Amino acid sequence: MINKIPNSEITDSKAFKDRRRIIKAILAATGSSIVPAFAASDNARWQNLPKSNLSTGIMTTPSEIVENYTNYYEFSFNKKEATKLAQSLPIDPWSLQISGEVEKPGTFILEDILRQQTLEERIYRFRCVEAWSMVIPWVGFSLGDLLKKVNPLSTAKFIKFTSIYQPEIMANQNTNTVLEWPYTEGLRIDEAMHPLTLLAVGMYGETLPKQNGAPLRLIVPWKYGFKNIKAIVKIELLKKPPTTSWNTFARNEYGFYANVNPLVKHPRWSQNSERLLGSEFFTPRRKTELFNGYGEQVAALYKDMDLRHFF
Ligand code: MTE
Repeated sequence: MINKIPNSEITDSKAFKDRRRIIKAILAATGSSIVPAFAASDNARWQNLPKSNLSTGIMTTPSEIVENYTNYYEFSFNKKEATKLAQSLPIDPWSLQISGEVEKPGTFILEDILRQQTLEERIYRFRCVEAWSMVIPWVGFSLGDLLKKVNPLSTAKFIKFTSIYQPEIMANQNTNTVLEWPYTEGLRIDEAMHPLTLLAVGMYGETLPKQNGAPLRLIVPWKYGFKNIKAIVKIELLKKPPTTSWNTFARNEYGFYANVNPLVKHPRWSQNSERLLGSEFFTPRRKTELFNGYGEQVAALYKDMDLRHFF
């Protein structure tokens, strides 16, 4: 069963940008049901997308908050500044390399990938390890569906994701020694194939803003936000667990699994509760849920692991 979001957490959806409201109203009035082909450059807008029954609820955090409160460390450790600087990232054309333990490796143009995928809207909770959360309507497709197209071999046990490396634009890739660049993340193969695991190309019915990971990012809603790697250029299927940026930086703070878990505190703060951005007026803090509320769907993946200890 999908958790419904209580009224106290509902954020006024009229907070959408005016521009978006007007465009949507025009499209609705013309009765158009065409889903435009994706083009990274032309700011795709989607209407009448299939609404996934994997969605958490229907009410979302105002898009202004999601678009301005961003973590994009290649650009800056300051959320506002990262948002501004990310606008300089060229994202068209974009290709994705898929390699490793697969029968059909290759480098694919994003538009070609999208022509073969059914895009849908998925409303997911998003929980950052910093103890804030949002509810976001992503537009995307299942990572598992993409992986099936390249025929993973039985030796593929893990997946490594790599973000774009562009030090001439992403200043911290030259100067910042905290994280290893390019930004990398990883999943176990069964986590990657899970129906909830999404590759997002949009949110709020429009192309992903650059600061939120355009043109392609990972969304794994039961894990802490840092697993949701942005601007993906490479996916490798591997026999062994990959090294990943945050885990390499501080193993005891940023675990490979990083499942949202109120039972395991971050070494420097509690994970018992979180600030749901945009709803602080109604609910100053909400209780953090195990697996971010997706336990019914994903707990079986971890049945052999002790939830009190692993992170
Ligand atoms: N991906 C890349 N390439 N670079 C980053 O700095 N930050 C991570 C994750 N993905 C990050 C990234 C962190 S720490 C979080 S919380 C989320 O993206 C934030 O996503 P948002 O900015 O869209 O809210």
